[in-house]
Amino acid sequence: MAEEQQRAAEAPGVAVEFDRVSLSFEKNIVLSEVSFRLERGENKIILGVTGSGKSVLLKLTMGLLKPDAGRITVLGEEITGMTEEQMFAVRQKIGMVFQESALFDSVTVGENVGTVFERLTNVPPEEAERRVREALRFVEMEQTFDLMPSELSGGMRRRVAIARAVVGQPQLMLYDSPTAGLDPITSARIMTLIVKQRDVSAVSSLLVTHRIRDAYIMALTYYDPRQEKLLPAVQNGSRRDTNTTFLVLRDGNVQFQGTLEEMQTQRDPYVRRFLA
Ligand SMILES: Nc1ncnc2c1ncn2[C@@H]1O[C@H](COP(=O)(O)OP(=O)(O)OP(=O)(O)O)[C@@H](O)[C@H]1O
Ligand SMILES: [Mg+2]
Repeated sequence: MAEEQQRAAEAPGVAVEFDRVSLSFEKNIVLSEVSFRLERGENKIILGVTGSGKSVLLKLTMGLLKPDAGRITVLGEEITGMTEEQMFAVRQKIGMVFQESALFDSVTVGENVGTVFERLTNVPPEEAERRVREALRFVEMEQTFDLMPSELSGGMRRRVAIARAVVGQPQLMLYDSPTAGLDPITSARIMTLIVKQRDVSAVSSLLVTHRIRDAYIMALTYYDPRQEKLLPAVQNGSRRDTNTTFLVLRDGNVQFQGTLEEMQTQRDPYVRRFLA
């Protein structure tokens, strides 16, 4: 693990905290006094039906949207009243994989992944390229360095988006439906990358997903660097803590928060439906 990131995992303050956050678009109340905490090193899976505000929640965390009321703290700093300039420094420490991959179509894969270095004048171009190649290698896409995004499949674009999100060695990862629309095999690959990033770099993460299978992978497996694959967290009676909790959004409110075990023993039929 990079020393920088090790220190980040041990840094004081929460990774993310929402304190009674509300946001409406005209008459559409998307979030109503939503509160949750993501500790450093913790991972939270956000579940909810389409339109329940999952993407909005991640965009608020990135400071791309501002709440109408409530307070948001990210990596120990309250961002609610921050200017764009102040937000820039916070965003440097966050890696976001957008729902649509959101690659720039007019520049190469390498330039897409290296976007963050354009504004970081303290990183020389050779060093930037080295890090971009390393990030692409992490997602097994180094061979696409000179290709244009239009030449990639959906799953490849998603992997490039992950490379772009991790290249700056973030302390917090935000994944918005990273496996949506992908076949089961590619989805499993993407989830392996996400768990690998979690376990190799000890970052905190919020993962939005529609696929309960992804949630199980996050909660019940860990990455073994020796075998280069995911292994079950529960084995021969011993259990590795994957530091994963769940949050279910419903009609602007938090319907459930807790561990997988707590979710599995919930009587609430709405919450149980997500486990099916
Ligand atoms: N910029 C915006 N302007 C107006 N309304 C918006 C905006 N962004 C989101 N919304 C509304 O907020 C609600 C929540 O949207 P959001 O994108 O967070 O849903 P979601 O849970 O991510 O859904 P999906 O699972 O389909 O991705 C929706 O009703 C949407 O129409
Ligand atoms: Mg969404």
